[in-house]
Amino acid sequence: MFRLAHCSDPHLHVDVPAPSLSDRFSKRALSRLSWARGRSALQRPEVLAAAVADIRAHALDHWLVSGDITNFSLPSEFVAAARWLEALGPADAVTVVPGNHDALVPMPAADGWDHWQPWLRGDDGATGFPFVRIRGDVALIGLSSAIPTPPGFASGELGAEQLLALEARLVDLGQRGFARIVTLHHPPAEGVVTARKALVDRSAFRAVLARTGAELVLHGHSRDARFDPLRGPQGLIPVLGVPSISAIPNPKDEGARWNLIEIERTVRGWHLAVHARRWQPQDQRFAAAGSYRLLLPASGAANGVTG
Ligand SMILES: [Fe+2]
Repeated sequence: MFRLAHCSDPHLHVDVPAPSLSDRFSKRALSRLSWARGRSALQRPEVLAAAVADIRAHALDHWLVSGDITNFSLPSEFVAAARWLEALGPADAVTVVPGNHDALVPMPAADGWDHWQPWLRGDDGATGFPFVRIRGDVALIGLSSAIPTPPGFASGELGAEQLLALEARLVDLGQRGFARIVTLHHPPAEGVVTARKALVDRSAFRAVLARTGAELVLHGHSRDARFDPLRGPQGLIPVLGVPSISAIPNPKDEGARWNLIEIERTVRGWHLAVHARRWQPQDQRFAAAGSYRLLLPASGAANGVTG
């Protein structure tokens, strides 16, 4: 059995330098305003610390962090995020995909994602997306939907090249019998977020999955817990989203939650169990918030729900 934690959108609190002149005329200025006006009070470092302790206490095989680790894509935030990721565990047991806040403005890779290469790299050592990490029966496929967008937008895009490569990898990994877990920041289902926050080429992504199948898709970005299955070649593919791992409950955020996901090969197919862990403000800790199980045949089509 492979056991992993899926969490997202930590939005780390990092002491950042005063805005440069160019920052004052970039999208960073709006994000700084939003952060100062209230976001910083809703994304709490003590909630994130409690989440990390809770995940660590479960002694899992792997951590998946589906983006928005930073707030303004500042170089100092990428360095701080790398220190935070290092503390979670060995890099081969922690996988990251970037979110829109991690690509807020165009910037040199050396100041940004280069700092995250240990967690963004495939087993072959190659950088770029999609990347693939094989862990036992499981193939973790990391995508990037993070692109700089105009002020007021938080949309994402995978692009034709990445989708083409994804399709080839999913076909190959499916033929080799792996449980394919695809992770991206933006939700791929329709109507989950408003148009200005959506994955632009979500229908093309869904078309790839409809042809190739996948055993599980994970995402963040939506601020609430999601289960929006997509059509696969022979049935439904479970798609799970988690709200921010550091958010206290408020009108825009469901409140912090992470999912403990177990996947196991059985004679009947893939046995998938999802255990939600949710922040309890009254107790200042994370606690169980429901579980469910799915049975997925090796072909990737859901054929039953138990419990
Ligand atoms: Fe996001």
